[in-house]
Amino acid sequence: MQLNSLQLVNFRNYDSLHLEFNKKVNLLVGKNGQGKTNIVESIYMLSFGKSFRTNKDKEIIKFEKENLYVGGAFSKENTKGLIEIAISKNKKGIKVNKIPIQKIYELLGNINVVIFSPEDLRLVKEGPKERRSFIDKEISQIIPRYYNYLTNYNKILFQRNQLLKSKNIDKSLLDVYDESLAKYGSYIYILRRDFIKKIAGISKSLHDKLTGGIEDLVITYKNQIDINDEDTAQTVYNKFIEKLSSSREHDIDTRTTRYGLHRDDLNIFVNGLDVRLYGSQGQQRTASISLKLSEIELINNEVGEYPILILDDVFSELDETRQKLLVNNLNVVQMFITTAEVSHKSIFNIDNTTIFNIDNGSVVNIENGGN
Ligand SMILES: Nc1ncnc2c1ncn2[C@@H]1O[C@H](COP(=O)(O)OP(=O)(O)O)[C@@H](O)[C@H]1O
Ligand SMILES: [Mg+2]
Repeated sequence: MQLNSLQLVNFRNYDSLHLEFNKKVNLLVGKNGQGKTNIVESIYMLSFGKSFRTNKDKEIIKFEKENLYVGGAFSKENTKGLIEIAISKNKKGIKVNKIPIQKIYELLGNINVVIFSPEDLRLVKEGPKERRSFIDKEISQIIPRYYNYLTNYNKILFQRNQLLKSKNIDKSLLDVYDESLAKYGSYIYILRRDFIKKIAGISKSLHDKLTGGIEDLVITYKNQIDINDEDTAQTVYNKFIEKLSSSREHDIDTRTTRYGLHRDDLNIFVNGLDVRLYGSQGQQRTASISLKLSEIELINNEVGEYPILILDDVFSELDETRQKLLVNNLNVVQMFITTAEVSHKSIFNIDNTTIFNIDNGSVVNIENGGN
């Protein structure tokens, strides 16, 4: 999948911009605050219908203007398409191939984007919450119903905890909550198990390439119900219910829910050691890259088309060896890379790279490689 061209009107610090992209590497070079991330933000919007930086659409409209437009022409193996987004102060419209859509899921899947930001480099180092949120976002992108299950699970968990905090705990109501929690929980457990198994396989081979075969990456699903590969939703339901009732007295004493998905995590081992505890910063970063980028191959496996990859400001955070390995190993995807450092140009094969030099809301110079 590739984005062929982009048109912006009154988007952040751009008045009006039209760009034709390279089907391989697009390097957006410029000093800080000039508008590099603004461009990738608009590309992300073509995929998800919203920004990754704000939930307030109004903020994206150029200061003192009334409305913005983003248009992007993309092509896939067998199709071409056009996505258009128009936002004014109190209205938002999205069109797919000139036809207005009503629901965001009609947009999703037209353009798949994987975005890699500096926070993602800390994925392995951070706490379980960040990894859970990574898992949730990734699965939701591929399986939209996952998001609904999760919303329901969290709602019930909240209610259960509220009940545990109340003065007179209604035990039969607690039973009802446990059953609902186990119902949605069992769906989510199974989807997480299957997803983690897939990304574990992909990130293992990616990590092997990124480290020249020196490091072996093993990722497993850390959960409290000891879920097996063979477990069905019913088995998981039973296991979860069992856990909840075994912990009921404890939960009542502590007024919280001890067992469940909200305690899940990933075990991440490099050469047999827990990389969170024993890995160097470099190892943790490389493991983060392998984990995050496994999504690219997974999307290709599930959707049959490689996503577009955005690397926003991560390039300068990597050493030259990792930069080269990254670019060379991902040569199947179209890339958008933002960087403030011109020195990175030398990493790229100029034959398949286009460099856009960005200064204060305009593209001042384009150095074109072959296409
Ligand atoms: N709604 C807006 N209207 C006009 N300019 C904006 C708007 N939002 C952000 N900007 C400007 O965009 C610039 C930041 O662009 P950004 O793409 O994040 O920079 P970078 O090149 O560092 O990635 C800042 O100068 C900021 O003032
Ligand atoms: Mg930026």
